[in-house]
This record gives sequence, structure tokens and C-alpha cells, in this order.
Amino acid sequence: MPAFSASAPGKVILFGEHAVVYGRPAIAVPVTQVRAKAIVIAEPKSPPGMLRILAPDIHLETTLAELPESHPLAVVIQKATLALGIDHFPACSLQVTSTIPIAAGMGSGAAVSVAVLRALSASIGHLLSDVQVSDLVYEAEKIYHGIPSGIDNTVITYSRPVYFIKGKTMELLPVKKPFNLIIGDTGIKSPTAIAVGDVHRSWEANNRQYDQLFDAVGASAISARKAIRSGNISTLGPLMDENHRLLQQMGVSSPELDKLVEAARAGGALGAKLSGAGRGGSMIALVEPETSNAVTTALLNAGAAGTILTRIEHS
Ligand code: MEV
Repeated sequence: MPAFSASAPGKVILFGEHAVVYGRPAIAVPVTQVRAKAIVIAEPKSPPGMLRILAPDIHLETTLAELPESHPLAVVIQKATLALGIDHFPACSLQVTSTIPIAAGMGSGAAVSVAVLRALSASIGHLLSDVQVSDLVYEAEKIYHGIPSGIDNTVITYSRPVYFIKGKTMELLPVKKPFNLIIGDTGIKSPTAIAVGDVHRSWEANNRQYDQLFDAVGASAISARKAIRSGNISTLGPLMDENHRLLQQMGVSSPELDKLVEAARAGGALGAKLSGAGRGGSMIALVEPETSNAVTTALLNAGAAGTILTRIEHS
């Protein structure tokens, strides 16, 4: 039986979450240690168009016909059929697995969508381009998320560090000098749509104050872009600390995130901040190789549900 597989990494936002929804610049990087994977196996003996779906991580075993139309997997498969100009895929099974923590600010939903689109399109011999994949995932994200900036689908599709301005700029960011991040998971699930919706309401109520916060966050992202392009990594730490302070003022941090951020700094990190939508989910710390063990231990002692050490480099 021919099988087609594809995978996509997780991601973290290095600078600029939330402000990026309002047109300010942001930087995101892939996290390749965790991945979503999709495998498509042709099932020529099944009735035409029958698509079996197996997603053991979320205890899902069904067929496309039985899945509610609004289910994220149904949405992305529907988008794929439209983009590929077909009525349905030839009978097959689609297996989806992922090691990316769910609702932890690491892009698990977008990564599953990227992997599914690539595996399904490969199975009919019509590979979608990166631009098509990223656009389709963006369209799917809009359904659950309301007003996504587009940075998550972009960084996950290209699997490279990106400097991003909504609707304007997508730069694959050259990393002059590699650097190391530790990701700490609070273990608290935080759906992006809720935090993004809350920030939107606060912005509507306090337009001037939030625009100033977004401007300051955008300025950090611009400075960080320079630092990453020139290899001036030590300046990233204070910029991350500043970005975290601004996110606290936006109301998207939480006692658990603040505790992990402080523990990472006390453990020797060069800087630390929450990453993604906030409220729960993950934080990131910039570390030197010599302090990475101490920072990992500090995070676990402060209650992190898990940590990931990742190296950001130009691929
Ligand atoms: C989520 O990874 C980042 C947010 O800025 C939302 C978005 O950009 O779509 C919170």
C-alpha cells in the first residue's frame, strides 16, 4: 500500500505576540524537537471517497463523513479538496499524531494542519506550494481563532525563524549566531482565541493605552531583529524581559507564568518572557550552554510541567 507522510514543527513566539495582531512586527521560531505528523495510506478496497481518520492522541477514530463539519480536521480537509479542485480524496486512511503540547502556545493546531495538507496533497501527486499551505492553514485558523495574525501558520509552514508584519512582511530571518532557548510549560491549557478576544476587548476600551503597549512591543521586535541578524545575542535577554513586562501590562500573564519567568532569571537565564497567547501555556528563557541545566532545574522546581531545550539557528 503506498503511504505518504509529512510532518511540521512546533513554534514559539520570540517577540511581539498580541501586538502582531494589530500590525506590529513580531518574531517567531520553529521548535523542531516536537512535531505533528500525518500519514496517508491508500485503501483501494474501501468505498470511493471514504476517508478514515485516526488521531490516537485525541482519542479520535472516525470517518470524514461522520466528523462534524466544524471539526478542525474536517475544516482543513475541506479546504484541501477545494484548493486541489477535487470533490474528494481517493479512499484512504489518515493517521495524525503529535508530540507538540496542546493549547500550550506552541502551534499544535497549525502544525497538524500543515502536516495533513502536505500528506493529503502528496497522496494525489499534487504538492501544494508553501504559500498555498500557509494560506490554507491561515483560513482554517480564522474559523476558531477569529483574528489570527498569520504568524503561526507562517513559521510552521516554512520551519525557519521569521520576522513578520501582518499582511505586509514575511522575512525568513537570518540567524548570524545560534542561540539556545528553554521552553517551560505551565501545564495550564490556554486556548489562543480566549486571550486574543480579551486583549481585543481591552484594546477597544482603552485604545490609546493598548496602542502604546503594542508600539513598545513592536519596538522590541525591531531591535531583536537587528540583534539576531548581527549575532548580538546578549542584547536579546533584556529585550525579552521588557517584552514580558509589556505583556503583563496587557493582562495576559498569570501568576504561574510570572513564577516560571522569575525562576528562569534567578537560575541564570539572560532573559525570559511568556510566549504565545499567555494566561497559561508556555514561557521561554534565553540561556547560555553553561546555564541550561541550572535553568531547567529552576523551572521544574518552580512547577513547570515540562521543559524543552531548543537551539535556534539558520537552517
Ligand atoms: C499566538 O501564537 C500569537 C498571538 O499573537 C495570536 C496571533 O498572532 O494570531 C497571541
